[in-house]
Amino acid sequence: MAGDPAATGVGSMVSEPTPQPAATAERRASSEARTFPEGFVWGVSTSAPQIEGAAHEDGRRDSIWDVFARHHHHVADGSTSEVAADHYHRYREDIGLMRDLGAAVYRFSIAWPRVVPTGVGSVNPAGLDFYDRLVDELLAAGIEPWACLYHWDLPQSLADLGGWRWRGLVDAFEYYARVVAERLGDRVKTWLVLNEASTFTVNGYLLGTHAPGVRGMFAFMRAVHTANLVQGRAIQVLRASGCERVGSALAMNPIHPASDDEHDHLAADRIDQFAHRIFLDPVMLGEYPPAAQRLLKMADVRLGDMEAIHQPFDFIGANVYRHFHVAYDPRVPIAKAREIVHPNPEAEWTAMGWEVAPWAMTTVIAKLCSDYRVPVAITENGAAYDDVVEEDGSIHDARRTRFLARHIERLHQAVSEGAQVFGYLVWSLLDNWEWAEGYRRRFGLVHVDFDTQERRLKDSYHFFAKVIRENGLDRSWDDG
Ligand code: FCB
Repeated sequence: MAGDPAATGVGSMVSEPTPQPAATAERRASSEARTFPEGFVWGVSTSAPQIEGAAHEDGRRDSIWDVFARHHHHVADGSTSEVAADHYHRYREDIGLMRDLGAAVYRFSIAWPRVVPTGVGSVNPAGLDFYDRLVDELLAAGIEPWACLYHWDLPQSLADLGGWRWRGLVDAFEYYARVVAERLGDRVKTWLVLNEASTFTVNGYLLGTHAPGVRGMFAFMRAVHTANLVQGRAIQVLRASGCERVGSALAMNPIHPASDDEHDHLAADRIDQFAHRIFLDPVMLGEYPPAAQRLLKMADVRLGDMEAIHQPFDFIGANVYRHFHVAYDPRVPIAKAREIVHPNPEAEWTAMGWEVAPWAMTTVIAKLCSDYRVPVAITENGAAYDDVVEEDGSIHDARRTRFLARHIERLHQAVSEGAQVFGYLVWSLLDNWEWAEGYRRRFGLVHVDFDTQERRLKDSYHFFAKVIRENGLDRSWDDG
């Protein structure tokens, strides 16, 4: 789940003062053709711990999420991802679904506890073999694999040593990255190092709502710096192995000041620095943003670290779901800010309680392109709704379809204004295990019956297949 920023005082991205969906802008965007440039890439995203299952098969060992979920009160429905969508056994069928969808790209993650089950030490050949087969099957289906090295499933044995608070993790990650790159680097050309470092550090080490459930500013700052070091080191390993394009996926959700008051503006800016810039500025610019500077004592920053981290991405992956409004609050330590629900009577909400904010797409893209000047790919965008399976097996998920259409419309606006954005991946191909929400939040284009593992295509799947076929949105969405 996208970071829970403002609950904490630490959150997602800053941006323009006015979050309102300007009616004129919507209308203007509506009257234009919505065809994307040739070569624009469409695809879908998933992550290993959310779909694979087979959590203890073929040598895989516990990740922090296996352990965290065993404490029932940590996951809303008391579930674990032991079976999830059983993709480990059904990956061929799932690749067939992607092929029929017309996906050009599939972004998946590799499970560290499958490949190096104890985090350091011996490699598990069966684990590597799985990804080898997956990649071959994708290529045979004409789908380009984009592999993400870390989507939150830290081997538990490394958490026992301190997890992301422990500097030794950098060497362990380097070893893992090297093993994977050596095996898959001949066929996988696009890599993502980390998924949403802000979410796994904020929720996992500041708030304790995600695995491994640690709380505190000290732990958070240590985790932030380790994540940045890992990123710098892994980028070098991947480049040395001949990869063509490397980046990370970041949770990019615009942060708006609650009012025109200067204090609110400064509060929003601080949150932006802690949620976005704290992970982007070091790798892209070689320095921490000003708001983080005075906390660096907690982070054990050593001589040479910033040079090691400063390995600019070839592209930035942006995961876009929502936006936040932030107000100044002197009672909140450090951030001095808190999230507020903006009084907008027309606001719509997804089942996650996230406000639908398609204009976040244009804001995020414009900001990334102007601040960091590398191409952007939307590596996640999608919505959870309570889907109903009709008697004939159909699923009319009109709200998800409309959510996607409105975001694609904004994406098109950014592209037509000249933004360097080259791809868009829906989260997610399949309904899956949504972390602390368990199986009760469904994001898939494909419905999964978690009792039988039967897959059923939702209307949004057919909608997205048409977008891909036509390389754009048809005019029926003009008033959407
Ligand atoms: C993102 C995560 C992804 C999924 C979606 C809904 O924050 O990267 O794993 O949980 O939210």
